[in-house]
Amino acid sequence: MSMDTGLLDKILHETIDVIERSKEQIFEIAESARSECRRMEKEVKEIKEQTLRIIEEVDHWEIEERKARRRLMRVSKDFQRYSQEDIRQSYEEAHNLQMKVAVLREKERQMQAKRTELEISYANMVKTAEKAEKLVTQVGVAMSYLSSNLQNIWEEIEKLQQQQQIGFAIIKAQEEERRRIARGIHDGPAQSMANVVLRAEYCEQLLDKKPELLREELRALKDFTRSNLEDIRKIIFDLRPMDLDDLGLVPAIKRYATDFAGKYQIHVEVNLLGEPRRYTPAMEVALFRIMQEALNNVWKHSRAGEVKIIVETTPLAITMAIKDDGIGFNVDQKQPSQCFGLRGMREWAAILRGTLRIASAAGKGTSITVKIPVEEVQP
Ligand SMILES: Nc1ncnc2c1ncn2[C@@H]1O[C@H](COP(=O)(O)OP(=O)(O)OP(=O)(O)O)[C@@H](O)[C@H]1O
Ligand SMILES: [Mg+2]
Repeated sequence: MSMDTGLLDKILHETIDVIERSKEQIFEIAESARSECRRMEKEVKEIKEQTLRIIEEVDHWEIEERKARRRLMRVSKDFQRYSQEDIRQSYEEAHNLQMKVAVLREKERQMQAKRTELEISYANMVKTAEKAEKLVTQVGVAMSYLSSNLQNIWEEIEKLQQQQQIGFAIIKAQEEERRRIARGIHDGPAQSMANVVLRAEYCEQLLDKKPELLREELRALKDFTRSNLEDIRKIIFDLRPMDLDDLGLVPAIKRYATDFAGKYQIHVEVNLLGEPRRYTPAMEVALFRIMQEALNNVWKHSRAGEVKIIVETTPLAITMAIKDDGIGFNVDQKQPSQCFGLRGMREWAAILRGTLRIASAAGKGTSITVKIPVEEVQP
């Protein structure tokens, strides 16, 4: 899963990079199209001016050429006034002017063609620049839309992944708990039931052979069965503290503490700071289990006379502290591998992204503080 999301993350970021680079390229195209437009605009203006000048020139030389032609006509008709040489000169002049006008006209034609061509290219270039500019804005919009969406997607994925990890850890913890309970049933009630069967058979035999002993044996069997019933109730409670569902976390803790105090003659005080709230089932069970194991340890190891449980709720987190006034222990000392209690507490806290602190010193009592952030509050 983490590898998949890593890959996905890479793909998403590469996609954004590619789009970002494309945006830059389109921007460059738009820039060069714009400067090309400016250059062409100048060229069009120049060629227009040149064309105007050449038209004026053509007009001018056409007039001159007409004049020359009229002069040639006059000269060639009036033999008396003009010599052969005059006629030749006039003819040459007219001819030269005619040539000049023809050349200029050709130049004008070429210039006009060039101008039209340039104007078409210019119009196209303007269109290209406009298109590129529009694309830049569109890509920009798409980009911001996409990156904010990808960001959301990424956050969603991360959230899902976290939830999945919590789910896996809870399943693992539950599996472990089931194994422990199964072992408990196997070693406890299952064996006891086998025992009950044997003892019932013994009662049958007594009925025939020594009925005077039967009453005593039946009473013993009854006591034995009753104590087994007690064990079974405990196992059922271990499976799921029903109070949690019915009452919520703090009342369930209070009830458990009252039972505990009654059973082991250790005074327990439970205080709630803040509003009573409901949390996710996983959180409630985890906190309950931690409290249970802490009290268990108090009874097993601390020789305490008093325990204080303080639960503090805020909208962001729930904190629970369990303090005893017992003998304490060295927290830094490595616990033997068969000790599951403290390790289990830490695991529960870690599963829910919380923290667990143990403070203890010889003769100074022990306090266990667990803080779990509230992710979602169930109504
Ligand atoms: N409240 C306490 N007061 C004094 N010592 C404690 C207390 N809690 C824990 N300890 C010490 O820390 C050790 C580890 O506790 P932990 O709950 O992990 O294991 P355990 O209680 O010995 O066994 P398990 O919980 O697996 O049945 C205990 O053996 C005990 O020495
Ligand atoms: Mg323990």
